[in-house]
Amino acid sequence: MKILLTGATGFVGSGVRREVRAQGHEVRALVRPGSVAKLDAREGVEIIPGDVHDTQACLRATDGGIDAVVHMVGIRREIPQEGITYEAMHTEALYNIVDAASRNGVERIVFLSSLGARSDAPSGYHRTKAESEEIVKSSKMRWTIFRPSIIFGPGDEFHPLMADLVHRPIVPVIDGGKALLQPVAHHNVVGPIARCLTMPETQGKIFEVGGPERHTFIDIMYKVARHYGVWPNTVGLSSRLAKPMVKFAQRFRSFPLTLDELHMLLEDSVCDPLPFTSTFGVKLDSYEDKIPSLLPRMQELAA
Ligand SMILES: NC(=O)c1ccc[n+]([C@@H]2O[C@H](COP(=O)([O-])OP(=O)(O)OC[C@H]3O[C@@H](n4cnc5c(N)ncnc54)[C@H](OP(=O)(O)O)[C@@H]3O)[C@@H](O)[C@H]2O)c1
Repeated sequence: MKILLTGATGFVGSGVRREVRAQGHEVRALVRPGSVAKLDAREGVEIIPGDVHDTQACLRATDGGIDAVVHMVGIRREIPQEGITYEAMHTEALYNIVDAASRNGVERIVFLSSLGARSDAPSGYHRTKAESEEIVKSSKMRWTIFRPSIIFGPGDEFHPLMADLVHRPIVPVIDGGKALLQPVAHHNVVGPIARCLTMPETQGKIFEVGGPERHTFIDIMYKVARHYGVWPNTVGLSSRLAKPMVKFAQRFRSFPLTLDELHMLLEDSVCDPLPFTSTFGVKLDSYEDKIPSLLPRMQELAA
């Protein structure tokens, strides 16, 4: 099969790219011109330089006998001053790809959504993922949607942030940090995304994806702190108080949290992974044992 990947240079996309190649498919990637160097030419991936907001680039990328699109472009944080919003990067980007793919007769799409995607979610991240899911579902293509919880693995964004957090002079803990997370290993996720392309039984299905254990945010934070041998200087804060503070402070780029991220931090991100594991025959990796290997070394933190 000939597969178009968007987001192929990202944390998840890099793994999916390798898996799709390993399955023997031809791979084409829509890559922003400034990011082309992230791909090794020897890998044999056909590169279409372009942005997901460029209609012509999307048409070029989906032209020429593409059998399926795997759409993985997404952002964690908005930078509205630069036009980087959830609406633009999730809904509009997905719409462009679906529209171009439909016009070029592509018949299959795989979309990377997120656990918690729903139209009445407090966070724009989840609301726009839900909107995108609706676009995928109402397209004429055969679709599969994955909704992962937080994905862990070398190169993830979460663990360096946690390492930084526990070393701050004061660590605000909002509503006790009691929200539950179900981290899932990168390689447990990327294989099934690639394999579903040749599994007709996965069409028209949404797979919620989480790891084998549930941990509260505060529990993970203390595990990280213990790894470094530090005791974080925590200050409890209620979300009622934190929300207006974050809403004000998020306009400063250096502030580490946005209101949207806070909304996500306050809600559980858990699921029953059984339909996912049984469909794809996945044995989920434990998270807890892997934490030390995901954290930057002390020298890297100081640098
Ligand atoms: N990581 C997780 O824990 C997690 C959990 C649940 C769901 N997800 C979802 O999984 C997807 C991938 O996440 P990730 O962690 O791999 O993110 P990531 O590492 O930030 O990768 C994002 C990808 O999107 C590309 N991209 C961004 N803007 C683009 C544009 N305008 N045109 C074309 N490509 C563009 C980036 O390309 P450049 O190289 O040019 O920047 C990169 O390849 C996202 O949709 C995310 O919401 C991730």
